[in-house]
Amino acid sequence: MTDRKRTLSGIKPTGSPHLGNYLGMLKPALAMQATHETFYFIADYHALTSVTNPKELRENTYDLVAVFDALGMDFSRHTFFRQSDVPEVTELTWLLSCVTPMGLLERAHAYKEKRQSKEDVTHGLFAYPVLMAADILIYDSHEVPVGKDQKQHLEMTRDIAQRFNHIYGETFIVPEPRIAEVVATIPGLDGRKMSKSYDNVIPLFSSEAQLRKQVMRIVTDSKSVEEPKDPEHCNVFQIFRQFADETQREAWAKRYRAGGMGYGEIKQATFEAINEAIRKPRERYFAVREDTAQLDAILAEGGERARQVAGAVLYRARKRVGLS
Ligand code: TYM
Repeated sequence: MTDRKRTLSGIKPTGSPHLGNYLGMLKPALAMQATHETFYFIADYHALTSVTNPKELRENTYDLVAVFDALGMDFSRHTFFRQSDVPEVTELTWLLSCVTPMGLLERAHAYKEKRQSKEDVTHGLFAYPVLMAADILIYDSHEVPVGKDQKQHLEMTRDIAQRFNHIYGETFIVPEPRIAEVVATIPGLDGRKMSKSYDNVIPLFSSEAQLRKQVMRIVTDSKSVEEPKDPEHCNVFQIFRQFADETQREAWAKRYRAGGMGYGEIKQATFEAINEAIRKPRERYFAVREDTAQLDAILAEGGERARQVAGAVLYRARKRVGLS
C-alpha cells in the first residue's frame, strides 16, 4: 500500500447526502480505493459553520458512516474517520492562518455570497478554507477528489501550502485536485447546483417512492411533446446521463432531438436508472444504519489511524516554525 499515492477527501454531515455528492465525490473517490491509499473523512468541524443542533450533527454523522459502508468503503484497508477525532488539525489551522493573507480569504466564493446576501458571517465561515487546507496538508495528501464547487478551496490550499513552504522550507506536499470533468456540477431540481443550501436535492438513499417523486419534480422547459428538444440543456438528461451507458445516452439524445418525446418519459427512465444503480447499496445502508455501536467502532479505528499520520505531520510543521 505504501508506494501508492494518497488521496484524501471530506464531506460535511449537514443532511442526507444527495446525488450531487454521490456523483461529484463519493463514487469517484471510492473507486480510487483500487489504485490509491485513501483517507476519507466526515467534516464535522466544518459542519459547525451551519449545523447548530447537536443531535442532528450526531445523526448526520452516523448517516455518513453508513453511506460509505453501503457504497463499498473497505474500512480495514483504508482510513475513514471523523475530522474532530483528530484535533491536531485545529492546531495546524492556526499555524496556517499565520501565513494566510486576509485578501485570499476575502475572495472565497462562499464568503462573498454570504456577504452579498447580507447574512451574518461568522469567523468560522471566513476561516473555513484554512481548516480545509489543514485537513488536506496534515495527511500528506497527493490528490483530492472533489466536485467542481470545491475547486477554489483546492487552489487556496495549494496557495497556503506554497506560502508555508516558501517561508519555512519544504514542509507540505502541494496537492492536486481531481475533478471529474464529465460530472462537474450536478444540477438540482430547479437547475441550480444541487445543494442542501438550495433545498433542491435528490437524496441518495430515500425510499423508492420518494425517489420517484423527486425525479418527477425536476424542472424542465414547457415544450410540448411534439417539439424537438435539446438534451444538453435539460436538467433531467444531465442526471440521466450519469446513470446510463453510451448506447442508452445516444438513443435518448436522438429521441430528444426528433420530437415526439415528453419529459415524463425521460423522467421515468431516469428514475428507473437511478433506482437500479442504488438498489443494493440502499438495502445495505438501511441495514447498517441501525447498528450505531458498529458505526462507532468504525470511527474509533479510523480515527486512531488518522491521528498517527496527523501527529507526525503536525510535529514536522511545529518544528519548522520554531515551536518546541
Ligand atoms: P460538501 O459536504 O459540500 O460536499 C461533499 C462533496 O460533494 C461534492 N458536491 C457536488 N459535486 C457535484 N455536483 C454537485 N451538485 C455537488 N454538491 C456537492 C463536493 O464538491 C464535495 O466534493 N468543504 C467540503 C468538505 C471538506 C473537504 C475537506 C473536501 C472539508 N475538508 C478537505 C476535500 C478535502 C464540502 O463542503 O463538501
